[in-house]
Amino acid sequence: MDREYFYKLMSGDGTLDYEVYLNTPQILSAQKPFDEFCNHDELQFQIVHQVEELWMKLAAWTLLDIDEYMAGRNAHRVVTLFRRVHMILELMTEQLRLLETMSPKEYQEIRLQLGNGSGQESPGFRTLLKMPKLLWETYRKAYLEHEGRSIADVYDQGYAHDDAYVVAEALAEFDELFQKFRFHHIQLIHRSIGMEAKSLKGRSVDLLKDGVKTRFFPELWKIRSEMTDRWGAAHGYRRDSITGH
Ligand code: HEM
Repeated sequence: MDREYFYKLMSGDGTLDYEVYLNTPQILSAQKPFDEFCNHDELQFQIVHQVEELWMKLAAWTLLDIDEYMAGRNAHRVVTLFRRVHMILELMTEQLRLLETMSPKEYQEIRLQLGNGSGQESPGFRTLLKMPKLLWETYRKAYLEHEGRSIADVYDQGYAHDDAYVVAEALAEFDELFQKFRFHHIQLIHRSIGMEAKSLKGRSVDLLKDGVKTRFFPELWKIRSEMTDRWGAAHGYRRDSITGH
């Protein structure tokens, strides 16, 4: 096949309405030129990262809307938009696996291209890390303070499966899916450079494990343990077997 012919075709000429509206010339030239890739896996490496950045941009933008809808106690909007954010996080996690089709050897060649770049410098990721604290503050004011309730009221004593509960569960889902992304990212590191490696900043890769333990909304997780403990205190921490043995 004539590579040059197809390279040109892939870029398009940028003049059709579809290309103009979607700005395809800019998107399709945001990767290195074909003849500058260090190997044939590098295009995939760049594209996966770029797509992930775009998803994080959309997630962050959507979370800004969610924050405003939460402040206005519009639970329907909050839940619909959280569904979008949750799907984005699932897609982001799924897409990491594409990079497992790259051999560890070939990744070493790509790694030489990265300077001391680190995913911790990702604008999308840095933005997303800053948002949960503010989202929690908004939730607390709009759904707890406003109604004079605590999380224990919402989940246990005054449990009504109402807006405060449904919105809290959407926050918990976000927390869980974010950590799943981090966990799968670590699996990818196992497959590519190995967990005993050092990052390009010279740090131990193992430090990433601390991130996986982070919970954005600890109150939403603590309440479950507290309820189990209360249940244990009332019904016994250790139960008898239902078979009588
Ligand atoms: C072969 C593929 C990959 C390898 C070997 C890899 C490796 C690493 C390493 C070693 C770090 C720690 C950096 C440091 O200590 O400064 C890191 C962090 C990070 N990487 Fe990757 N990465 C890969 C793919 C990706 C992809 C596709 C994304 C997509 C967004 C990504 C996003 C991140 C993020 C967000 C962090 C910061 C994580 C945190 O603080 O919890 N990485 N990566």
